[in-house]
Amino acid sequence: MLRSVVRGVGTALPRRIMKNAEFETMMETSDAWIVQRTGIKQRHIAAEDETTASLGEAAARAALDNAGLTPDDIDLIVLATSTPNNTFPATSVDIQNRLGMRHGFAFDMQAVCSGFVYAVTTADALLRAGGNRRALVIGSETFSRILDWEDRTTCVLFGDGAGAIVLEVEEGAGEMSDRGILATSLRADGSHKEKLFVDGGPSTTGTVGHLRMEGREVFKHAVGMITDVIEDVFAKGGITADDLDWFVPHQANRRIIEASAKKLGIDLEKVVITVDQHGNTSAASVPLALGAAVADGRIKKGDLVLLEAMGGGFTWGAVLLRW
Ligand code: ACO
Repeated sequence: MLRSVVRGVGTALPRRIMKNAEFETMMETSDAWIVQRTGIKQRHIAAEDETTASLGEAAARAALDNAGLTPDDIDLIVLATSTPNNTFPATSVDIQNRLGMRHGFAFDMQAVCSGFVYAVTTADALLRAGGNRRALVIGSETFSRILDWEDRTTCVLFGDGAGAIVLEVEEGAGEMSDRGILATSLRADGSHKEKLFVDGGPSTTGTVGHLRMEGREVFKHAVGMITDVIEDVFAKGGITADDLDWFVPHQANRRIIEASAKKLGIDLEKVVITVDQHGNTSAASVPLALGAAVADGRIKKGDLVLLEAMGGGFTWGAVLLRW
């Protein structure tokens, strides 16, 4: 059986760290409110010279190094982002150029915070379809550029960053025949558009726009949607929560993560949390968390890992894989 196996992972964060206390000088808020409601303590904010393309390139290079590969070894690039450098061409093509690649193909995927899970699912399907051996799957965002910095209900929640993995398709064999992506589940429901959207775009206002969110409404739907796709991949993979080694959820809010883990019966010690350090980095949040847990030795070869995300659209999805 053909499986897409993760060969390497890498991350990149903007130089500047913005702690919660900085918001206290800008608006009516407090470190205590932000930590208590979200778990966020700080986030990274991109400088002018740091873009979705440059952060994506840095994460891609780190993932290639981690895999012991070069851009020559890659056949396709899938970039998950909602904050592209330009309306077109796709930022993935910019990253391809920055990597010095003149072969293969590259495209962007837009599923907001679920983008990385969508991109991994798509790359996995393309690799198993034949004709391509290795994919770079990147989540890169500069949400700081689309925030309304006077809206305390949203601007304290997000941060910038990028994460990437190298996926390689191989014939499962021997003891590790169950390595790689075991099951995926994607969902979307566009009737929830007004709860989380950007109020601009090329075809409507001709502007970039700002992020608008009814946080309480998103919160209300999040746990149910997350558990729905996770139960689906558990059923497809023939496993239960007890079999999991690591749960790497989208990092939007610590309360949502803990409530989902509790509902699914996943031990909190198996949950990777980086929202305190990065805030919500949308499509970059899952690969940033994955990268942190691999770098510090928590996630090891053979571990059963669950990725999950939910975001604007609404879109939501999960990926079950053996590292
Ligand atoms: N500082 C101080 N007070 C604030 C702040 C702030 N930064 N922001 C809001 N408040 C106030 C509100 O005005 C409100 O005051 P009121 O009671 O006088 O009206 C009070 O705090 C409570 O506001 P709520 O919105 O009810 O607070 P809640 O506990 O729901 O927390 C939050 C808000 C953190 C946004 C939460 O709802 C949340 O995390 N929602 C989900 C967000 C999410 O998961 N998004 C995922 C996808 S993101 C994507 O796809 C791009």
